[in-house]
Amino acid sequence: MENKRIYRHGHGFDEQHKKNQALFSKLMEHHHEIFRETELLEMGIRPKTTSPNPHIASILQEHVSGMEKRFAMGRAIRSWDPLFAALFEYRDNILLEYYSIQNGVEAKLTTNDPKILEILHCHNETIHGFIQEGANAGKRQSPKPEWLE
Ligand code: HEM
Repeated sequence: MENKRIYRHGHGFDEQHKKNQALFSKLMEHHHEIFRETELLEMGIRPKTTSPNPHIASILQEHVSGMEKRFAMGRAIRSWDPLFAALFEYRDNILLEYYSIQNGVEAKLTTNDPKILEILHCHNETIHGFIQEGANAGKRQSPKPEWLE
């Protein structure tokens, strides 16, 4: 029997959550049209995520600004997944900078804490997994640092 999901920070039913869910479900559905290259920085990552499909490129842009707004409002997402619970819990130690580029988004996620750097690497690996496998990857827990419960 599938493990019951425990939402560490509540399970969103708000309108904004429904909108966010619609956006990332679309990204999962079109994962084969999404490409991501990541430059590893000393204390962070600089990913560029694009799609030749203009509709998907604009959904990518909406998704990132939606996630930034959601965290800024103190609302978590996917908090049954320890990595995403941690992205939310440590959001004050993570600087997310991003801007829209043609066909997508260029972002920079940095921290001054080596332990949180591990979270950023796992987040990067997770998004690459979503792009490779789509919803199958979305169903399981994401890779996480050993020290993270
Ligand atoms: C194919 C699917 C997905 C793609 C292509 C994608 C892409 C992205 C991109 C480009 C960013 C900006 C930061 C970065 O580039 O690392 C981002 C951030 C984020 N995404 Fe997604 N995403 C996907 C699915 C999801 C799902 C399913 C969730 C959660 C339910 C999610 C939650 C987040 C959150 C919370 C952030 C902000 C991270 C932070 O500020 O610490 N994403 N995503």
